[in-house]
Amino acid sequence: MPRTIVVGNWKMHKTAAQTRAFFDAFLPLVAAVAPEVEIVVAPPFTALSAAHDALAANRRVALGAQNVHWKSHGAFTGEISVPMLAEFGVRYTIVGHSERRAHFGETDHTVNLKVKALLAHDITPIVAVGETHEEHEAGHAQRRVVTQTRAALEDLDRGEVARVVLAYEPIWAIGTGANCEAFQADRVMAAMRECVDGLQDVPILYGGSVKADNAGAYVAQPNIDGGLVGGASLEPQPFAALIEAAARA
Ligand code: PGA
Repeated sequence: MPRTIVVGNWKMHKTAAQTRAFFDAFLPLVAAVAPEVEIVVAPPFTALSAAHDALAANRRVALGAQNVHWKSHGAFTGEISVPMLAEFGVRYTIVGHSERRAHFGETDHTVNLKVKALLAHDITPIVAVGETHEEHEAGHAQRRVVTQTRAALEDLDRGEVARVVLAYEPIWAIGTGANCEAFQADRVMAAMRECVDGLQDVPILYGGSVKADNAGAYVAQPNIDGGLVGGASLEPQPFAALIEAAARA
């Protein structure tokens, strides 16, 4: 596993044409970033082909997806399977993002099924967990994310656990600018690292209003190994600046 991972989660942004334009500008900007930093971009499904082509001659950026179904094929209208992602060279897939849990019926159980399906095809799951504002205020953040983490990794053996990436994203910090203090996030992430055997060396990313000016403070924490970045990953210049800041920390 790389030392630091920065993942751009584009959510429902960018057409294929916009994706090509992004990489034309972005790839030169990150060409000199230290190789210990893994850069991942997760575009919408419809832009995976364009992203794959843009990255074919450039190994610097790994391709990610934002969701997947756990079955390899079948009568599941509107869904995308792991082999379909593998065909485009997808190396990482986000599962359990709070937006999917809130709006699309993602549960701890389906997250667990998706993690297993991805590992079976050698794609790294990025398992997102996080507490609501109410849970945060009530002092239940650690308990919430430990429960979600254990459920996501249920029935995995130690070797499988060691092949995942975790992401701590306090829901109240996503897209709000109200980012969680780095030391506070680190404390929660330390609890995640201890809650399942095999997680000790797994990368744990922080997500929630990460920008170029705070990325360094997160990555400098002992339990924070990178960022899962939404809004600040959409434009080449700010995203490259964020990655530079993470690489320096
Ligand atoms: P944000 O989103 O960086 O815009 O807060 C993060 C995410 O939802 O992964």
